[in-house]
Amino acid sequence: MTTRAPQFPGAPVVRREARDKVTGTARYAADLAPAGCLYAWTVPATVAAGRVTAVRAVDALAVPGVHSVLTHDNAPELQEPDDPILAVLQDDRVPHHGWPIALVIAESLEAARTGAGELHVEYERDPYDVTLTDDHPGLYTPEEANGGHPAVRVRGDVERALAGASVQVDATYRTVALHNHPMEPHAATAVWADGHLTVHDSSQGSSRVRESLARAFGLDPDRITVVSEHVGGGFGSKGTTRPQAVLAAMAARHTGRPVKMVFPRPQLAEVVGHRAPTIQRVRLGADLDGVLTAVSHEIVTQTSTVKEFVEQAAVPARVMYASPHSRTVHRVTALDVPSPSWMRAPGEASGMYALESAMDELASALGLDPVELRLRNEPETEPDSGRPFSSRGLAACLRDGAARFGWHDRDPRPAARQEGRWLMGTGVASATYPVLVSRSTASAHAARDGALRIAVNATDIGTGARTVLAQIAAEALGVDPEAVRVDIGSTDLPVAPLAGGSSGTASWGWAVHKAATALAARLAEHRPLPADGITTTADTEEETGEESPYARHAFGAHFAETAVDAVTGEVRVRRLLGVYAAGRILNARTARSQFTGGMVMGIGMALTEDCGIDPDFGDFTARDLASYHVPVCADTADIQAHWIEEDDRHLNPMGSKGIGEIGIVGTAAAIGNAVRHATGARLRELPLTPDTLLPYLL
Ligand code: MOS
Repeated sequence: MTTRAPQFPGAPVVRREARDKVTGTARYAADLAPAGCLYAWTVPATVAAGRVTAVRAVDALAVPGVHSVLTHDNAPELQEPDDPILAVLQDDRVPHHGWPIALVIAESLEAARTGAGELHVEYERDPYDVTLTDDHPGLYTPEEANGGHPAVRVRGDVERALAGASVQVDATYRTVALHNHPMEPHAATAVWADGHLTVHDSSQGSSRVRESLARAFGLDPDRITVVSEHVGGGFGSKGTTRPQAVLAAMAARHTGRPVKMVFPRPQLAEVVGHRAPTIQRVRLGADLDGVLTAVSHEIVTQTSTVKEFVEQAAVPARVMYASPHSRTVHRVTALDVPSPSWMRAPGEASGMYALESAMDELASALGLDPVELRLRNEPETEPDSGRPFSSRGLAACLRDGAARFGWHDRDPRPAARQEGRWLMGTGVASATYPVLVSRSTASAHAARDGALRIAVNATDIGTGARTVLAQIAAEALGVDPEAVRVDIGSTDLPVAPLAGGSSGTASWGWAVHKAATALAARLAEHRPLPADGITTTADTEEETGEESPYARHAFGAHFAETAVDAVTGEVRVRRLLGVYAAGRILNARTARSQFTGGMVMGIGMALTEDCGIDPDFGDFTARDLASYHVPVCADTADIQAHWIEEDDRHLNPMGSKGIGEIGIVGTAAAIGNAVRHATGARLRELPLTPDTLLPYLL
């Protein structure tokens, strides 16, 4: 207990559940099959808007093994849920294609699926509209964009500044709907026993799931336990409570037996959210030295008729570059589409694609190096708020990345370098992500024999949360991380916020640090320990409730080298290099994997990922991993992540910023800028597929 951890801070400690995961002993939500367990299969609506007028279940119920069929006619009635997407099987309305309209419950998965296929559903169809356009008649300016950001911010007089600028860029960029598609589909196993509901749910935060279930079922939260012990990714799609938790609990209540429900991959697209498509007009004005005088970023995006969700894509333009005149606007229209939601760096990922592409266009127009252009527009304070930055490492990331990448050897002329049939180019883009933190509680316990235990309802969605929390506790206690047991992933543990907004480590870690520090102080006073050991608890309500006088953001720079096949239009990413300034890095191994994971996702966004929406049927066309193309190993040959350690005292006791999302921010722009450099073609719509590029190459 007195040995100081040898390698902390930042040590590349191996994630503690790694062996359990690779050997298959780690238990996920659908791995449990309690005695007497039934299986549920949802029936998705096959029309894009309307009402269910009749459900005939005779044939479904005749399938051997089918136990029951739930529809809005017989499903348990819910209280108004905290998220309207959870009001499933409550009425006959079909708000979008794929909305769950029935649940077939059976003795086996196969029987449930077969039964679902035998259900006869009749609909009354309403006209519908699933197509986003920048002149859509339903467009309106909401009060807020996602994350509580004001929809509109204006400084100065952008129109005048643009008109008077020596150089202008006016370009419109488009991003398509994207899906998170974590490896583990959304799944839940629910058990009601003695008036207590236990749900094993694949979620990014079971405290919130418990709240949702308590509200929907009108139960005291003390009568609900939600467990998310191991979670196979989420990328935002499990950050809010999803219908599987509600449906499994409903089915378990209805049948009086445990029920397991897994959304099959092809159904996920319509029930777990999507990154909303955007149409983004960016206008930049600059003087001949490349100093910005005007920045205008206008977003058009979609939400559903079920709830308002506004992708906050113009928010990063409020942070990035100095400009005396600025205007950032979000407009949205409610279409008959599934509800959009969070997907890794919601807002930043799409918004920075447009802003950083436009910066590249400005650099071209000025004949100025794109790294230099960004350096010339470094703000003294956060442009939108005027607050000082707690730390701002963008310039350092750009300089360090340029040196590592060999940026300055580049011939700036487009389409100047060819290797056989490959047109070669390089591109750069900045990255940013806000520092977010939420209130958490945690406890620390030292047993009489010296065993140390941390308890907090954190969630490990594949990031290594257990491991880094052990490191944080170990540092506070002055022990080796292996000496600390960490219990997470259940609402029976101290309440904690979700793994989302790149805020998990900061939020949980702060509470863990506080509890462990208090425990260390108590341990110093008590020798020997009392029989039942010592427990300390911590709550960071006060610390995290204070509004910081500082603007707090992580920054980064992405450099890409692409090769474009002059014959087929295929784009290959030869090299991708990211440099980040994200405070103190707490675990070099797991952090690197977060950064490179985000970059890989950025490659998908740039080149292949596209849900497609069929205007005739109103549904997503790419609904499995055979048609929704995510990068594979062959697409990610040379990916490097580096970082600049920042000593930022205005964050939390660990000095850390979030790292889970910034890797995807700007990556698609860096790739698009490299493709432009390689070919001379400036495409302004993602993904950059061969069919869209080829016309420019012939
Ligand atoms: Mo992340 S999209 O905030 O889970």
